[in-house]
Amino acid sequence: MTVTDIAIPEELKPVDGRFGSGPSKVRPEGVEALSAVSRTYLGTSHRQKTVKGQVARLRRGLAEFFALPDGYEVILANGGTSAFWEVATFGLIRDKAQFAEFGEFGAKFVKAAADAPFLADPTVHRAPGGQASFLTAEAGVDVYASVHNETSTGVAVPVRRVEGADEGALLLTDATSGGGSLDVDLRETDVYYLAPQKALGSDGGIWLALMSPAAIERAFQIKATGRYIPQFLDLVTAIEQSRLEQTYNTPALATVFLAAEQLDWMNAQGGLPWAVKRSAESAAAIYGWADRSPYATPFVTDPALRSAAVATIDFAEGIDAAAIAKVLRANDVVDTEPYRKLGRNQLRIALYPTVEPSDVAALTACIDYVVERLS
Ligand SMILES: Cc1ncc(COP(=O)(O)O)c(C=O)c1O
Repeated sequence: MTVTDIAIPEELKPVDGRFGSGPSKVRPEGVEALSAVSRTYLGTSHRQKTVKGQVARLRRGLAEFFALPDGYEVILANGGTSAFWEVATFGLIRDKAQFAEFGEFGAKFVKAAADAPFLADPTVHRAPGGQASFLTAEAGVDVYASVHNETSTGVAVPVRRVEGADEGALLLTDATSGGGSLDVDLRETDVYYLAPQKALGSDGGIWLALMSPAAIERAFQIKATGRYIPQFLDLVTAIEQSRLEQTYNTPALATVFLAAEQLDWMNAQGGLPWAVKRSAESAAAIYGWADRSPYATPFVTDPALRSAAVATIDFAEGIDAAAIAKVLRANDVVDTEPYRKLGRNQLRIALYPTVEPSDVAALTACIDYVVERLS
């Protein structure tokens, strides 16, 4: 008998066993809605009304969901968040950026800016995995950048402007995994950027940025300086195309549709306040269980930093988290493995609003069942 022969009783299992932090659970209802338009929408031109109508629905849905402040705009283009880091490096940082880096994803944006030969060396405030670092006012910094939820560690921080920052300095917030699960007031940031494969219950491949008037103005100013900007990464092009309800190059139509569908669903449930509450319920289920468990502990020791978007749970010595994940996977409960480079004896569980809080509770019962059988 191998560990993967352990069969979890059906009555303990979650209804939906997808707990990945991205790509994440896509609602079957979304896929059914997509299927219903398969002959009229999929495989049709992205320059025509049918597709532009879905891009418009997605932009409207985001505006409603995030209570878009006056003058802010929803901008999108291809390439996912990783592309947006390059877009921002070319098109938003004038000279010097400051970063709060507390995980692998934050570090990737830092690298993009640090590698750019036309920018000054950035200032970086770093914190070890499981902790957070914060931005501080610094003369000469024209872009501040932080992460709403660091997916690699399960640390979440509030979105707040930097007090004492130079006049006109922008704040950029990576909301790839925090957006849609964590509360935010967009007036506190200039660019709140995310991707559709997490709380938006869709597939990957596009980036979405909710941009303030100041951020939009900055993009046009930098472009006017004549700086070399690769065409594909040109933020001004993305702004102009988004205003026309289209993208510079061909987008994944299914991704656009599923995200629009999910936003309509979430808005009908009560929008961001509803989503935040639902993720918080899931968070209470998983962290509450870990606090009670003799062998599980939240990795993030400061409860104020514990994410309600992605939970990271450490296991005691002698309990093999990798084996638990393996058994869960063999039982169709998938993607509970930790972020690979963190290298901990850990499980990581997405708490996005797409996930049922009752399924998170069921997952904890499954883990207990597996641990009992493994030991
Ligand atoms: C916080 C955060 N930023 C950026 C990314 C990268 O997003 P993408 O895969 O769309 O490039 C991820 C992906 O997991 C993420 O979690």
